[in-house]
Amino acid sequence: MITLHEEIAVQRSIKDCFRYVSDFRTVAEWDATALTSKKSTPGPIGLGTHFTVHCSVGPTKVRLEYEIVEYCPWASIVLVGKSRFFDVRDVITFTERGSQTHVSYTAEIQYHLGIGSFENQLESGMRDMGRKSLEGLKSALDNSPSPPKISDCTARADRWVAPGVAMFSKWGFRRSLAQRKPDSTFLDGRHVVLTGANSGLGLATSIALAEAGANLTLVIRNPAKQEELLQTLESETGRSDITIEIADLSLMADVSALSDRLLARGAPIDVLINNAGALFNDYALTREGLEQSFALLLASPSLLTHKLRPLLTNHSTPSRVINVVSGGMYTEKLVCDRLIMTPPSYHGAKAYARAKRALTVLSELWAEQWREDGIIVNAMHPGWADTPGVASALPTFRSITRRILRTSDEGADTIIWLAKAKEAGDLSGQLFLDREPRTPYLLSKTQEPAAQRAQLEAFIDAQIEGAAAH
Ligand SMILES: NC(=O)c1ccc[n+]([C@@H]2O[C@H](COP(=O)([O-])OP(=O)(O)OC[C@H]3O[C@@H](n4cnc5c(N)ncnc54)[C@H](OP(=O)(O)O)[C@@H]3O)[C@@H](O)[C@H]2O)c1
Repeated sequence: MITLHEEIAVQRSIKDCFRYVSDFRTVAEWDATALTSKKSTPGPIGLGTHFTVHCSVGPTKVRLEYEIVEYCPWASIVLVGKSRFFDVRDVITFTERGSQTHVSYTAEIQYHLGIGSFENQLESGMRDMGRKSLEGLKSALDNSPSPPKISDCTARADRWVAPGVAMFSKWGFRRSLAQRKPDSTFLDGRHVVLTGANSGLGLATSIALAEAGANLTLVIRNPAKQEELLQTLESETGRSDITIEIADLSLMADVSALSDRLLARGAPIDVLINNAGALFNDYALTREGLEQSFALLLASPSLLTHKLRPLLTNHSTPSRVINVVSGGMYTEKLVCDRLIMTPPSYHGAKAYARAKRALTVLSELWAEQWREDGIIVNAMHPGWADTPGVASALPTFRSITRRILRTSDEGADTIIWLAKAKEAGDLSGQLFLDREPRTPYLLSKTQEPAAQRAQLEAFIDAQIEGAAAH
């Protein structure tokens, strides 16, 4: 048996250190050998939670099945991991000393028959890895990463267009894992308002932000889905203090009523996530007379964000607006007069892409206008994720690309990072994919003239006014 022991001291609360480490999914962020880690049992982290961890050990990949076998909140945790080649028992203890937390980590590694004779040769390598891992954990808990920049490799891929688009797939997400920095931020006491919270990316985001401790106000359209959402959140995260608001966001009257309710409640908003969306293959007008793609994907986030602005200003730290757009917008150029499509030329995917292009431009405009008010605004696109929305609106696309689609968690990852990560608060007016700022134009012909940017807000406002008068 090899016993490794390391200790670190960090300037973080004991509670934060315990929460971060006991969620062993984070091991992929700081351990020198771990490649991926997934929670494989439902429910909040605690005694009996299982994790599946893939590690690279020398030239081979090893799958470890971990279980939390002792769990003493804020004090200690013991995990037992089993693999084909070895078993490991990790004992991690947390002690408060002044303003610091000391983390002591002991790993007892027991090799299976046949490998035992190599133990001596393996030992020094294992010690090295143990040291590097704890350095990684210290850096994760110190939590002071610099803001991300686009890498040379990604910029090259975007210039060649096709490799840039290939990164929308799950391979793009996997590639990004190797470059990402740990995020050990929690959102305790932070108020997050999220639209489209009951399905796909919105549901994955709700769960992650509930786990991170955020005060959540979740906006959903269908009251019949409220109970199921609350039950899912409670069984996944243990949280039963989530606020639900009902609004059909394609109706400006509903958006206004929702905003009025939130304004009356008066709770400052730290993060607003405009996520609700759908691709409408068939042309239809809302009962307020707006074309539905334009209404839901553009007019709605515009009206909601403007109305909620008083709750987004005057925070001690900048508040964040996150607009969920789509890689589809790369195919379209902003032309205000073409934002509202009508039959016979109506085309759902085009109407969708135009609205998302306009929302990307709006994000840049708001970032400039609201910098002084302490509001940062970013757009993100999730790549291609296998969600109920994609299954219903794009069944052919889904059946062709099924094997390369991301999961909802993978698609939502950058939304969660933009809401949570410390360094994401240093950037505004950017478009992100996989936690990396990306060009908003893959094709130069889709760059809009300045006059179109200048007209955009007045154009949207005029349509919203028209809907109110309908
Ligand atoms: N999945 C992808 O590959 C992908 C790619 C690019 C961009 N996106 C964007 O990501 C966001 C989330 O999409 P998703 O893929 O997670 O789709 P999804 O599973 O269909 O989720 C969409 C959410 O929006 C809600 N919503 C739709 N219409 C609404 C309305 N009128 N009022 C209020 N809420 C409404 C839905 O509520 P109901 O459940 O009641 O319908 C649902 O909660 C969208 O903005 C989408 O455009 C997704």
